[in-house]
Amino acid sequence: MRLFRTIAGVRTQLKPAWKTDQNLALVPTMGALHSGHLSLIEQAVTANDVVVVSIFVNPLQFEPSSDLEQYPRQLEQDCQLCEEVGVDIVFAPTVEELYPHTPSAQGTQTQEEMTRVIPPPAMTSQMCGHSRPGHFEGVATVVTKLLNIIQPTRAYFGQKDAQQLAIVRRLVADLNFPVEICACPIVREASGLAYSSRNQYLSSDEKKQAQGLYQGLQRAKQAFQEENIRTAEKLLLYLQENISGLQLDYTALVDPDTLQPLTSVNKKALLALAAYVGKTRLIDNMILRDRAPIIAIDGPAGAGKSTVTRQVAYQLGLLHLDTGAMYRGLTWLVLNSEIALDDEAGIAELVSQADLQLVLSSDPEIPVKVSVNGKDVTKAIRSSLVTRNVSVISAQKAVRDKLLEQQRQWGEKGGLVAEGRDLGTHVFPNAELKIFLTASVGERARRRQKELVTQGQENIDFEQLQQEIQQRDTYDSARAIAPLRKAPDAIELVTDGLTIEEVIAKIIHLYRDRFPIADSG
Ligand code: PAJ
Repeated sequence: MRLFRTIAGVRTQLKPAWKTDQNLALVPTMGALHSGHLSLIEQAVTANDVVVVSIFVNPLQFEPSSDLEQYPRQLEQDCQLCEEVGVDIVFAPTVEELYPHTPSAQGTQTQEEMTRVIPPPAMTSQMCGHSRPGHFEGVATVVTKLLNIIQPTRAYFGQKDAQQLAIVRRLVADLNFPVEICACPIVREASGLAYSSRNQYLSSDEKKQAQGLYQGLQRAKQAFQEENIRTAEKLLLYLQENISGLQLDYTALVDPDTLQPLTSVNKKALLALAAYVGKTRLIDNMILRDRAPIIAIDGPAGAGKSTVTRQVAYQLGLLHLDTGAMYRGLTWLVLNSEIALDDEAGIAELVSQADLQLVLSSDPEIPVKVSVNGKDVTKAIRSSLVTRNVSVISAQKAVRDKLLEQQRQWGEKGGLVAEGRDLGTHVFPNAELKIFLTASVGERARRRQKELVTQGQENIDFEQLQQEIQQRDTYDSARAIAPLRKAPDAIELVTDGLTIEEVIAKIIHLYRDRFPIADSG
């Protein structure tokens, strides 16, 4: 791991990663790293080739009379932690390096000399922005600078700072940054208190009091889930009643993307609060989601994913999100255009404007209906020409981006099962049940051999089959686009010695365990 204090140093180090199109992750932090930060970093390390953690206590986002001076700084310890979890680069610039045009180099908000990034006031004026004027302009400005300096493919942010996350997402969309924003769940201490660098300021009594934030949120969530309480008025009341004793700054029920206040929960809502415990201001939140569950099944080729997925969908009455059919739809579109298969820019232009519609089903006898730009291509996408070309087209970033967006839209509704290589880590990180379906190389080679024999092929070299499968695994795990990954919260199911029926039964059992009363209709 290397530490860089200057923009010139870190950019020189990153040149090879930029040139070779590697997956480059940025995890922006202000240091004093704790388990919350580390979960972001670990997620970035699992899913990317190069990981940069930035450590910078950003004066622009502190109010003049706040805890800027007091904010914990422990670079050496942070670097050690980064090294341990596999970070490649720590970028820890000084204030002078990042804000050379602020004369005193203090970067406080009274400085007028630099360009600032102003997010939509409707997103910054309430909640934390109300009691911290200028804070989110400071965050948006530093995040913009960091994205420009590092030019990552992905940047990781915690759901803990839900308002910040929504503002950063909007910033990236509005200013067309070519980066994917990855949101990571809140990490909590055993007591429920969310990890925060500011927890260091709390006495042991205050720490006990601070647990009230989570307890209040839990109580409101319980009222939502078990008593079907949906109005903001009632939910906020539950929250407030359960955190009596703390000095509340705000409670809010808002749309998690736009941050606009909601009068009741429709599909999903962000329930958030800030409170003072002694002199320390703490924030916490929860997403209230009203959607049916998602099962994400990932795993290497030849583990039996597609049969298992179809059957699980059927038996649980969940929709089968046939991602393969989506790729076939776009492949058909490209093949039926004038665009050459290697003209990535032309394909990007074509598919990003395409209208792909699916009618999903649960029944393996009723395959998904696919239409592209208004034309029914359900049959056409199964042609051998499409089959031969689907992997080349699926490997293109613009194609995957287009489908990712659409898959996530299906995910908003939920009630589906899908299979792939990076669904649990990337497409549906919030899936309720993640399965990593795998089998030993030997077992998969035996299955493949059996399949080939049934197809009339004899004289199969078993050793060679094994080698091919091993090579495919290595390639799939290392590929830049949609590499095979096991999500940390996925259940690994090794299918050696199990029949397909046994595997399906296991998954259904896991689902029923989690959703005993889930309506399977
Ligand atoms: P900082 O407070 O250091 O947090 C860095 C990242 O860690 C943020 O994305 C935050 O949401 C995430 N994080 C903090 N505590 C967490 C927890 N308990 N669980 C999950 N994630 C958690 O946020 C900032 O720094 C700054 O505003 C920054 C984005 C770096 C810009 O200066």
